[in-house]
Amino acid sequence: MNNKTEILRQKQEEALLGGGKERVESQHKKRKLTARERLHFLLDEGSFEEIGMLVMHRSTDFGMEKERYPGDGVVTGYGTINGRLVYVFSQDFTVFGGSLSETHAEKICKIMDLAIRNGAPVIGLNDSGGARIQEGVVSLGGYADIFYRNTMASGVVPQLSAIMGPCAGGAVYSPAITDFVLMVENTSYMFVTGPNVVKTVTHEIVSSEELGGASTHSTKSGVTHFACSNELDAINHIKKLLSYMPQNCEETAPALAYEASDETRLKLNEIIPENNSQPYDIREVISEIADEGSFLEVHKDFAENIVVGFARLAGRSIGIVANQPAFLAGVLDINSSVKGARFVRFCDSFNIPLLVLEDVPGFLPGTDQEWHGIITNGAKLLYAFCEATVPRITVITRKAYGGAYDVMNSKHIGADMNYAWPSAEIAVMGAKGAAEIIFKKEISTAADPNARWLEKEKEYSDIFANPYRAAERGFIDEVIIPSETRNKLIRAFKMLENKVVNNPRKKHGNIPL
Ligand code: HXC
Repeated sequence: MNNKTEILRQKQEEALLGGGKERVESQHKKRKLTARERLHFLLDEGSFEEIGMLVMHRSTDFGMEKERYPGDGVVTGYGTINGRLVYVFSQDFTVFGGSLSETHAEKICKIMDLAIRNGAPVIGLNDSGGARIQEGVVSLGGYADIFYRNTMASGVVPQLSAIMGPCAGGAVYSPAITDFVLMVENTSYMFVTGPNVVKTVTHEIVSSEELGGASTHSTKSGVTHFACSNELDAINHIKKLLSYMPQNCEETAPALAYEASDETRLKLNEIIPENNSQPYDIREVISEIADEGSFLEVHKDFAENIVVGFARLAGRSIGIVANQPAFLAGVLDINSSVKGARFVRFCDSFNIPLLVLEDVPGFLPGTDQEWHGIITNGAKLLYAFCEATVPRITVITRKAYGGAYDVMNSKHIGADMNYAWPSAEIAVMGAKGAAEIIFKKEISTAADPNARWLEKEKEYSDIFANPYRAAERGFIDEVIIPSETRNKLIRAFKMLENKVVNNPRKKHGNIPL
């Protein structure tokens, strides 16, 4: 080996060893994988090609010129997952706490630029103490360069962020712009300001985990879409998620081979309870309709009154948005509207057809909802559906009341096909409340007001608490036997395969944020 090759070998070895420092393990942390181990588990064996392995920082303040490590705290490059190209970066906490220097940022930007130009997903494995404190503004500039690219890449290529350690300060805004955020329970946290600042400013005493751990963000804030039990679980989730997505906005998601068989699902005939105010679990409906075991729920523990996720129907990827009668009766509120809207927009960006399962009693009443903006937030879901140009089908399983009927992918806002089960109820409001308002005088002057109220409630219910008025108008294309739903959907999505819709030309819309 000549001298020059030996120098290269030594530099590579140094980079591969991750900066030559002992890995930092805080007491509360479980064993964490290294940046390279994570990539090893994420990518197909032998597929990783590293870019910028020998890059080092340029900082000279605070004696930094003496501490320079090849790679500068982030491993970047490309590889494949199940044979499909992806661009990756994996932050290395052993080098200055994975903090983001000017050059660290440049490495991430380089692979993002390649991803946008070549149309393949970007996966970020985050484990960083934030901006490299010694570098000051160039590090902040580096973050902004990344945020800009996250935004430019949004809707062009899928972007996934897994938080494997700390992600604090402004650093949180890169994952926040990406399409999906995954966190690892007990070893990762995200917050704009940490517990110490919180204590100083608001006098609240809170741990990192409580403030911004995986469980907090998967249940309370909705910042993360998946709370994973460990790093390998997070990596497996990334692979599974990608399998439902195309490489970029010009392509469609890969389809699995599917052999047609008997698509009747008799169990669906038994799911709706006799009593229309009794709950049932919409996931049971989903698992009967979708290809067996194909449903991947997104945002599972956040705003549980709406269920969203990816599934396959006859081998093809679809996005499902479903009201959940088993939680708050499936009512639409602020969080469920935002959750649904974001998912609809992701599917629409990446040509994933949408299936809506509707059983919604309306929007949640109350001062809390009104004062926190259910009007603006509910409008997000409405807007997202209106704007979506992918094939869109709705099945009304039971209730479709009030404004929620319009919002949940009604034909009026561009759905292609709307089916209803015989149990469907489509009306402005529930029969009891409707009778009270429109027959107020008659009820109050009756000899037996209660009996008259019941009589009027039944009258209203007989007329509207069924799908036939809507079907007469063509707002419902067909009333179907529940067991036939899967069959109908497979055919209808096939029929819609070549759908083309051109919304009016514009710079961009102004979704009610
Ligand atoms: C430089 C950093 C660093 C940083 C950590 N290190 N964060 N170096 N810049 N931001 C270094 C530490 O000095 C230490 O170096 C090593 O990484 C490990 O850090 P520890 O503190 O020993 O580890 P741990 O106890 O696990 O705590 C991890 C941590 C803590 C919670 C992330 O390091 C921390 O609070 N760091 C600062 C976080 C922060 O305030 N970042 C700026 C946020 S503002 P040695 O040499 O001792 O091993 C921001 C603005 C972005 O990011 C704005 C974008 C718009």
